[in-house]
Parts: sequence; C-alpha cells; structure tokens
Amino acid sequence: MTRAFNFCAGPAALPEEVLKELQEETLDYKNHGLAVMEMSHRSKEFVSIAEQAKQDFIDLLSIPNEYDVLFIQGGASLQFSMIPMNLGNKNQKLDYLEVGSWSKKAIAEAKKFHDVNITASSKDISFKKYPSINDWNITEDSSYIHMVMNETIEGVACRSLNDLPEKVIVSDCSSNILSEPLDVKKFGLIYAGAQKNIGPAGLAIVIIRKDLIQKRDDLPALMSYQTYADSESMYNTPPTFAWYLSGKVFSWLKRNGGLKSIEEINLRKAKKLYDYIDKSDFYYNDVSIESRSIMNVPFLLNDDSLNDSFLKESEKEGLLNLAGHRSVGGMRASIYNAVPEEAIDALVSFMDVFASKYG
Ligand SMILES: Cc1ncc(COP(=O)(O)O)c(C=O)c1O
Repeated sequence: MTRAFNFCAGPAALPEEVLKELQEETLDYKNHGLAVMEMSHRSKEFVSIAEQAKQDFIDLLSIPNEYDVLFIQGGASLQFSMIPMNLGNKNQKLDYLEVGSWSKKAIAEAKKFHDVNITASSKDISFKKYPSINDWNITEDSSYIHMVMNETIEGVACRSLNDLPEKVIVSDCSSNILSEPLDVKKFGLIYAGAQKNIGPAGLAIVIIRKDLIQKRDDLPALMSYQTYADSESMYNTPPTFAWYLSGKVFSWLKRNGGLKSIEEINLRKAKKLYDYIDKSDFYYNDVSIESRSIMNVPFLLNDDSLNDSFLKESEKEGLLNLAGHRSVGGMRASIYNAVPEEAIDALVSFMDVFASKYG
C-alpha cells in the first residue's frame, strides 16, 4: 500500500504515525477489550484520554491559567454564531475585519445578533493583502474585534501581531492553529475547527479568557460557553473519536519538538513552494508577499485551459486535492503540519515537469 500526498484544505492530512497508532488500538484500546469509540464518555479511561488531550493542547500553546479550553461540536461555523451570542453586549457594536471568504460568513452570522462595523476590508483588492493593523477603524465601545487570522480559501494571513489594540480580540485560527507558536494572551478568544491541524472533523476547540464566560440563562444550553466550561465540555456526549484522535495529534507534535520545531519545518515548506512559483513563468501567486499564508498556498496557471490536465496528471502522480476552492478556481496546496516535506518536493518536481511539457 502506498499513501498519496494529500493537499486537501480540510478534512486534511493526518500524521501517518497517528493513523498507525489508531489502527493498532482500534479493536482493543490498551487491553480494555474495546475501541475508544465504543467507550462511555464518562468512563475513567475516556476521561483520562480527554484530560490528557486538553493538557497537551494547553502545553503546546503555553495557554495561561486565566484561559479555559472548550471542546465543542458544530465546527468553526457554529462559533460564527456562538461568539456574537455570548460576547456581544447589548447596545454595543461588534468590530469585524473583512479579509476573505470565511470573514464574510462570520460577518453575515454576527449581523443576525448585533450591529457590525467593518473595521477594515480588503474586498476591493479581492482579499490579496491583509489590512495593516494601523489602518483598522475600530469602534470605541465595541464588544470585541473579530479577525480570521488565516483565510483558507484566499491563502492570505495576518503574519504579524505587533500593535494589536488593547481590546477583546477574537480570532478564527482554524487553518493556522498549532502551525507556529501563538501569543494567546493577546486574545480574548481563539477558535479553530479541528479538521486541519488538530484532528478529524466534528470538533472545534475554543480558548477563552475566563472572565469572558458569562452566565447566560437566556441562551440554549449548548450555545452558551458557560455550559461547556462548567462541565469539562461533557454536558452532553462529546465527539469522542475526534477528541481522542486530536489528543494523539497533540502528543505527536509534542514528541517532535512542539510548535517551535513545526514552525521551522512549515516555514521551510512554504518558502520552497512560493520560491518555485515566484521563479516560474508558468505559475503565479498574486497574494501580497507579507500576507502570504504558510498553510494554504493558492496558485494559478498562466494558461487556465490547462487546469483540468494539471489536476488529472497530478492525481495520477499521487498528489491529491490540489484544486482551488470552487469560489476562486485555480489551484491550492494546503500544507498543514501533517503534510511532510517530501510532499512539497514531489509537488514542485511535478509542477516543473508539467511546465516543461506544456510551457
Ligand atoms: C478559516 C475557516 N473558518 C471557518 C471554517 C468553517 O469550518 P467548519 O466547516 O468546521 O464549520 C473553515 C473551514 O474550512 C475555515 O477554513
């Protein structure tokens, strides 16, 4: 059996080591005679798996004590609603950056609950550059500022957090969480859908400053952060498989040197791919250099009539899921933590052969 190189934006590649561990443990988890997916979430074994996963996540990101970490179903999209419902204060506006497709979805949802001020927008330049923090037009008494730190579809990211304002900052880090160290203290809330750098789909992790968790009897139980905080995220049956496998991904990251080490690898991977694209006269990437994502690398062929052949031939070579998002077209290589450096080498060599053949 050979495993292909998977460049999917999500659900994305998982570390091979983790999948092998899963394979070994699937019939009989550590001599308990059953799989983790068959265990009660209240059992001693599962509670210990869940606690260890949470602690490893806290360790990886050096999350300070003033924060809680919640495991919530519904993906990152449910957070688009939970955030304004829980953090939006009556009679206050919400500040939202409009920096790509996921920002637009978050804004549409927030507008259902409160007035939204578009703090900065790069829509007029088709989201090719992340607005500089100095140009953000912040409402004085807004409840929070929402940003998507890495826009997965456009491949554009906020690459410097210097000068973030002293406000409650909320960030969607779905596609950049755990890709490099992150200074959690700069944020009131960070959230991420699991299916990229964390684990299987079906789970979102929310890091929230404890003082922002309010008692909200007016909200449905499962829409209130307090419910999760008060119950170790087990008010109802949590997505046990996703939680368990995410724990394995965290311990894989820790074994391999944590976020400093993975950052080095990720920067090297991204540089190799962008350098190749920038040198080529066959492919291009038109995102402003300082805003380029190190996780999602979109690129276009000068002759887009070759797109189908590119996709067919790359797939034959075991390079999967290189099509850009249907809303923007072109190609996109998502190069998350679990995509090995050899995958980038294989992609660059394929791109080169393809360019020589059709160029
Ligand atoms: C940055 C970002 N935010 C939100 C989402 C939505 O996540 P979900 O499908 O888990 O709701 C995605 C999905 O890819 C994403 O990339």
